[in-house]
Amino acid sequence: MGVEDMDKDTLILAIESSCDETAAAVVKNGRDVLSNVISSQIALHTLYGGVVPEIASRKHIEKINQVIEEALAEAKVTLDDIDAIGVTYGPGLVGALLVGVAEAKAIAFAAKKPLVGVHHIEGHISANYIENKELEPPYICLVVSGGHTHLVVVNDYGEYQVIGRTRDDAAGEAFDKVARAIGLGYPGGPKVDKLAKEGNPDAIKFPRAQVEGAPFDFSFSGLKSAVLNYLNMCQMKDIAINEADIAASFQKSVVDALLDRAIMACKEYKMNKLAIAGGVASNSSLRMAFQEKCKKENISFYHPSPIFCTDNAAMIGVAAYYEYIRGTRHGLDLNAVPNLKLGERI
Ligand code: KG4
Ligand code: ZN
Repeated sequence: MGVEDMDKDTLILAIESSCDETAAAVVKNGRDVLSNVISSQIALHTLYGGVVPEIASRKHIEKINQVIEEALAEAKVTLDDIDAIGVTYGPGLVGALLVGVAEAKAIAFAAKKPLVGVHHIEGHISANYIENKELEPPYICLVVSGGHTHLVVVNDYGEYQVIGRTRDDAAGEAFDKVARAIGLGYPGGPKVDKLAKEGNPDAIKFPRAQVEGAPFDFSFSGLKSAVLNYLNMCQMKDIAINEADIAASFQKSVVDALLDRAIMACKEYKMNKLAIAGGVASNSSLRMAFQEKCKKENISFYHPSPIFCTDNAAMIGVAAYYEYIRGTRHGLDLNAVPNLKLGERI
């Protein structure tokens, strides 16, 4: 690489379509977001009470070209200026992933650009680099999304060690299920977050599950059942249900479990940096609790803005940049891998 090449900015065009957001972004040098376009399908899936995979794929194919065009236009660049195409190739809904992967391959082929496949969770973790310019590995990251709850040691860019995971429901899934049970509808997380502000978090004692012999693992299905049992008990005994108290008490139970394990991981691995990522990381009570506890424990706390917590392509552009500079390249035979493991490179 010549000196002039090293001085040149590296621009990634990133595509994300693993679930219900069709997204494209342009990211400069792994840290500067030049554009971040998201076409959300939430309104459509709300009609069915959750994401319908078949509908998600169909919507992605309809929207993806327009979203990419907008991302390039907003960044004031053309495909010629782009150094590599980054795309989420797993994990996620296979039909949804395939739309982004096929699109990225077509662009990479037509524009003769390198193709870099990205793990969706690596994207979520990397969202922390956008607004925290000083953040560098190593650190601990708690990933809490609709599909995943992972406690990760980020040893270096692209180097992950998963030390804890959920044994059953993901944190976001628990939010969505409890929201449905108390009649809030889909997507549950933001609605529980809002209603909980009006409730008493100590009104009902819900369990904080631990997994025997696996101190960093999580389990949320017991908590979800406890909420359902509480609702049944109220109905049977004709006790008035206070949805706000249930939301606040449930939320506190989730946040306590997440915070407890995350701080324990920082101590065990002697790390004084803790980051959070994924849709649930935008939860206001979680952010406040983490902020306070980290301050007490002398741990630097990092979190992305809510728009970079939920699914977006900017985070994929950041992850793709660090994969690109470490030499990751994919061929035009790249396929969607719905259950891709973090750190696995296929
Ligand atoms: O990361 P994400 O956008 O998609 C996945 O990769 O799964 O996460 C979506 C999840 C949903 O379960 C949603 O209910 C939850 O994140 N979520 C929240 C909040 N905003 C989104 N959960 C709690 N509080 C929030 N404010
Ligand atoms: Zn996600």
